[in-house]
Amino acid sequence: PQVREYTLVVQEATGSPDSVFRPGMLVVNGTYPGPTLVANQNDRMIIHVINQLPNSTAIHWHGLYQNSTPFYDGTNGISQCGIPPSQSYTYNYTFGDFSGSTWYHAHYSTQYTDGVVGALIVNPSNASTDADGRPVPPTPAPTVPVPAYDQDIVVVMQDWYHTPSPIVLALFLGPDGIDGTQGDEPTPESGTMNGLGQFDGNGEYFNFSLEANMTYRFRLVNTGSLANIRFSIDDHPLLLVSADGVDVVPQWVSGVELAVAQRYDVLVRTNETSGGQWWVRGTILDDMFAYSIPDQELDQRGILSYPVPFPNTTPLDPASADPGPGANISDLDTSTLVPSLPIDAPEPTHRYPVTISFQETQDDEYLAFLNNTSWYPLDKECTMSLLQQPSFLSSLTSSDGPSVYGDSQLLLTHNGIEVVDLLLDNLDEGDHPFHMHGHRPWVMGSGAGRYQGQSFNLTNPMRRDTHLIPAYSWVALRFITDNPGMWAFHCHIAWHMSSGLLMQINNRPQVAASYGLPDVLLQHCAVDKGSEAKRS
Ligand code: C2O
Repeated sequence: PQVREYTLVVQEATGSPDSVFRPGMLVVNGTYPGPTLVANQNDRMIIHVINQLPNSTAIHWHGLYQNSTPFYDGTNGISQCGIPPSQSYTYNYTFGDFSGSTWYHAHYSTQYTDGVVGALIVNPSNASTDADGRPVPPTPAPTVPVPAYDQDIVVVMQDWYHTPSPIVLALFLGPDGIDGTQGDEPTPESGTMNGLGQFDGNGEYFNFSLEANMTYRFRLVNTGSLANIRFSIDDHPLLLVSADGVDVVPQWVSGVELAVAQRYDVLVRTNETSGGQWWVRGTILDDMFAYSIPDQELDQRGILSYPVPFPNTTPLDPASADPGPGANISDLDTSTLVPSLPIDAPEPTHRYPVTISFQETQDDEYLAFLNNTSWYPLDKECTMSLLQQPSFLSSLTSSDGPSVYGDSQLLLTHNGIEVVDLLLDNLDEGDHPFHMHGHRPWVMGSGAGRYQGQSFNLTNPMRRDTHLIPAYSWVALRFITDNPGMWAFHCHIAWHMSSGLLMQINNRPQVAASYGLPDVLLQHCAVDKGSEAKRS
């Protein structure tokens, strides 16, 4: 294990990722997406984030556990206040037994929509001690190992907006909505694959120039703000081996659909003998779009190439349709995902129903609700995030269960180590990719309509940090409250998060309070009063 030190500078920039000039981009170390961070399980990360934006920021390491360091989770208004302009914050954490493909992104209003995203790859290791020399329990070997591969390829895909997100967000939350209809999500203009996209027939393709007869592990990440993205490579089947960083029993698929914030790892063999160039497709799916946009803008591409015995010199045709799956292969059906390392879900000790809805408020706002709360950052009324208020935290320890603080903060508090089922009913007409910080919940069951006591899958259920809950359906997520801290649980669609589709999981607050807080964090809180865009 190693200690790895990085500096990430967050800045404003202009650029034209899909050929259209884009003001108000936000970049990390000058690039979009930001640099890929690679580490091993049990390593320690020391990451200096330098904020050169005119607004505050915070960087979240999606999917990590942050066990004993909840104040390095990077979530504005929950685990920290924003890093004020021209200041820095050093995140310092270990992965623990976490490994897999994930990503980092700004967790401050909709900043990540404008480009503050990057891949984070954590490789498994067999080390017996962590980076600090402390012994770690051996990681059990998966029953079904990941097949061998030669090299990693990162594919960061996201829907892309031509207007800076603060402008889009203000319209979306405003009285007339984005297009005269409240609740219609902002429709992206195009998409990008590793920072390049195409719009109106212009734009560059990201080139995947590989070697022949190798096996590549493509690590796919949807860093977008609304759309699901379907990934496929013409004439190349994909061997799916991992979902949200959880190794799964491998299966061949023709394509995979990634909801916002989801990841899939697929193995690709460069063993075709003719052609030499193929489209890599990151198709932006329009299921959630208020209005239609031309197919061309949805159909984002890169190019895979490698030397073959019988090359074809005809250039690739941008108009060509996906040739479709090979014999007997279809796109991934997520209900068939099975973890290759089974971990039994213990019996629940608590069960809570939570509804997902959008409603118009008395003030003519159209907001998202979990039960009866629509979240907003508390810096409007206090200068500290919840995690940093010891007196507030101790007031929460009286009883287990859901409580509401102010009118915006739904908290699910547990003082001991409990096994909790969240029974989520999506009463909304939209799909919602829900993400739980600090945990990898088991997906115990799901189905159409409302939850009415249906039975669960107790046999090696899938575990994942981001689960898509389709319109008018239910899902049951089970987790253990063994990670002290205040954790966000939210829809990862950037517009929905900013509409309040977020609640907090408050595990063992007294233990969390005993961790102590970095001084600089408290200093930041004194400065960062109300700098996040406000809903009202
Ligand atoms: Cu990708 Cu709240 O996180």
